[in-house]
Amino acid sequence: MLVVNERGHLTVGGCDVVQLAHKHGTPLYLYDEQRIRTRCREYVGEFSARYPSVEIAYAGKAALTTGLCRLMYQEGMGLDVASAGELYTALQARFPAERIKMHGNYKSNLEYRMAIEGGVGRVVVDSLLELRQLDSWADKLGRVADILLRVRPGIDTHTHQLIQTGQVDSKFGVGIYGGEARRAVELAGELGSLRLRGLHCHIGSQLIEIEGFERAVDQMVSFIAQMRDELGFECEDLDLGGGLGIRYTQHDEPPTVAQLAETICPRLRERLGAAGLPEPRLILEPGRSIVGDAGVTLYTIGVVKEIPDLRTYVSVDGGLSDNPRPALYEAVYEAVIANRAAETPAQWVRVAGKHCETDTLIDDTEIAPPQPGDLLAVFSTGAYNYAMASNYNRFTRPAVVLCCDGHDELLVERETLADLIARDRIPAHLLVEEPAADVCAGQG
Ligand SMILES: Cc1ncc(COP(=O)(O)O)c(C=O)c1O
Repeated sequence: MLVVNERGHLTVGGCDVVQLAHKHGTPLYLYDEQRIRTRCREYVGEFSARYPSVEIAYAGKAALTTGLCRLMYQEGMGLDVASAGELYTALQARFPAERIKMHGNYKSNLEYRMAIEGGVGRVVVDSLLELRQLDSWADKLGRVADILLRVRPGIDTHTHQLIQTGQVDSKFGVGIYGGEARRAVELAGELGSLRLRGLHCHIGSQLIEIEGFERAVDQMVSFIAQMRDELGFECEDLDLGGGLGIRYTQHDEPPTVAQLAETICPRLRERLGAAGLPEPRLILEPGRSIVGDAGVTLYTIGVVKEIPDLRTYVSVDGGLSDNPRPALYEAVYEAVIANRAAETPAQWVRVAGKHCETDTLIDDTEIAPPQPGDLLAVFSTGAYNYAMASNYNRFTRPAVVLCCDGHDELLVERETLADLIARDRIPAHLLVEEPAADVCAGQG
């Protein structure tokens, strides 16, 4: 992970990050393009080697820009989107609509319309109500929508509760238990403008234990068999979602993509065979494990504050607004002083952001003794960082740069201060220089 050049500077995709900081400023999101491509190829290769028909659809929620859509297209990936904004991004990038899947537990009218008119390959339907609404939209627009039904298999996973999604008590999907999923399969068959192509589940994210996927395979195959027996349902697509964990710190030991494929594929084929079911196309939708460890965030250290006998605080020029994951999920990261990356870590510090919050980025980490002006590189920030960035405290969102073979190219420009107020409007009565005490009177 740590590649250091002859000047002792960290490199990403062959680029010297100190030079990148001078050129683009900090905070700065960096992606190693080759690493993303390698992950895509690993997924396609490992699953295709073990199963006859596979689609790997990158889950755009992890990080989506028009450039990243093009990269996924070049790698032959499908694409998952979960909002009008993500779909718009993909379509503007000329990502083929038939390889897009549209997700969401509450799709707006705009999203229904965009999905149907845009011709997305699959709409992943999340509720009985949505079946009716989508059918009515497809009917109105004179189309037939190809859909997957998202089911809740009732699987608890060992991950942070906010990123568990397949358990019985979840807002996502229709439950196998209680018969809701069965009713949805039945209803989908009755609605004239929908074609139920298959089933979907997603059990959670940052999964380090692989057993959850085994249980998902078992549950889904037995549900498919039950639906065939009771309703004559034929499953063309089986989408097992994303969720594979990545290494954030040296203590994490996530399964490899090969291990995931070896867990899922033989078991799936065996269970399908035993139930006398044909093999559907297998879809996976990884996000984090495609882009997560390809990302590095670069900060400038501002203040180094010693609290005697307690700890050292290192404040950087970003924080909650570019990475809310520590606050949301107690996510843990590792970092290095990027301009002295070969130096042995010798000081335990707490890395804090510069927001008006206790926005700890890294609770406790060992780095080379930090100085104001040093660059701090935080690793494995490629997923759910840029995607979750905000303008809290009216911070401008950082630039996103793609690095490959020593070349750096912008994926996203840094926001400017002018961008921050571009959509602000000042109501006329607030422009009065010396407002009368009762300036609001008569307005309501
Ligand atoms: C439906 C669905 N698919 C795929 C993903 C991607 O998951 P991950 O980034 O953990 O691979 C998510 C993320 O939560 C999801 O909700």
